Amino acid sequence: MPESPFLAVLSGRKPSRVPVWIMRQAGRYLPQYRALRADFPRFTDFLAAPEAAAEATMQPVDALDVDAAILFSDILVVLPPLGLTLEYREGEGPRLGNLLDSEDRIRQIPRFDPSRDVPFVLEAIHLARKALAGRVPLIGFAAAPWTLSCYAVDGRGGKDFLRTRSLLHREPALFDLLLERLSDLTIEYLCAQAEAGAEVLQLFESWALLFDPDTYAHRILPHTARVISEVKARAKVPVILYGNGASLLTTPFASTQADALGIDWRIPMHQARQAFGDRPLQGNLDPAALLGTPESIALAVAKIARENAGGPWIGNLGHGISPNVPVANAQAFVNAVHAQPL
Ligand code: CP3
Repeated sequence: MPESPFLAVLSGRKPSRVPVWIMRQAGRYLPQYRALRADFPRFTDFLAAPEAAAEATMQPVDALDVDAAILFSDILVVLPPLGLTLEYREGEGPRLGNLLDSEDRIRQIPRFDPSRDVPFVLEAIHLARKALAGRVPLIGFAAAPWTLSCYAVDGRGGKDFLRTRSLLHREPALFDLLLERLSDLTIEYLCAQAEAGAEVLQLFESWALLFDPDTYAHRILPHTARVISEVKARAKVPVILYGNGASLLTTPFASTQADALGIDWRIPMHQARQAFGDRPLQGNLDPAALLGTPESIALAVAKIARENAGGPWIGNLGHGISPNVPVANAQAFVNAVHAQPL
């Protein structure tokens, strides 16, 4: 089988075409996803069903000719084993209870054992690898410790995560302990995914944009950087660090050992290149651009390629795809990236 263009870029080799995948590619914009989702009144039951998860993982690979599959799961599945309750409410997103918001709760966080606590994720990886049969590599993923703490302390999605940020300022030692424990968990989780068959790992730092560069560099980054270096040393697979906020925090992001950096759309590629050097960059189309037309999408992709000027690049959006994107536009995005010169 010819070498995967995605793995080629991640290992510093020239790919046969510019690779592309889409963050949140297994999701509601696909009618076949909505049909599968309808079998599960509760989203948490879907996440815990390995056969369905493997099928959802395959759907965008079959539909769009993307160059990587990402495991269908969610960053929050690691929290119920720590004693939190989790439900996803229609139109509202995740709601958690029994939060990690007190000294007692944080000091008593139990050790995380992936094969005991989330066997369904490891089983979904086995099944997805079997179904993929080498067509494209499988990406495993987890939240970076800060992003996970946002949900574990605030208990729901939001825009500011003020409870979590107030813990950082009010009880700095306790905040550090929380991030340390969540980092330990994340290291075990990612290594277990690699052992089960994930060929690339991506860390989602989805809430980096809440910080000024110094606070991020001194209070958050050391935890994320430790996760990356320990996972790389143990699992021996490439690690991509995605940061929604990487555009504003280039120096801290560049200082990690990540093999590639996933960037949002607030920075032109040539500036990102200056900040991140020769490392592969992943991104960075504004997700809203997929609500344009196939023609406007092709123009936007060509602009990114021009600004990138031939550096190692994995086409992607700057954040997840929205549920209301027409499938034809997602396809136009994939085709436009594939049409760019190497
Ligand atoms: O990328 C993929 O296709 C793989 C699957 C995946 C999901 N969530 C499935 C999902 C991945 C990689 C994630 C990551 C995730 N989950 C992140 C980091 C990425 C990002 O967007 O910043 C975050 C912050 C979450 C937490 C989460 N899960 C929220 C806030 C929500 C509700 C908002 C929303 O998008 O619906 C979810 C639910 C969720 N996770 C859905 C899917 C397909 C939608 C649930 C449904 O079908 O009803």
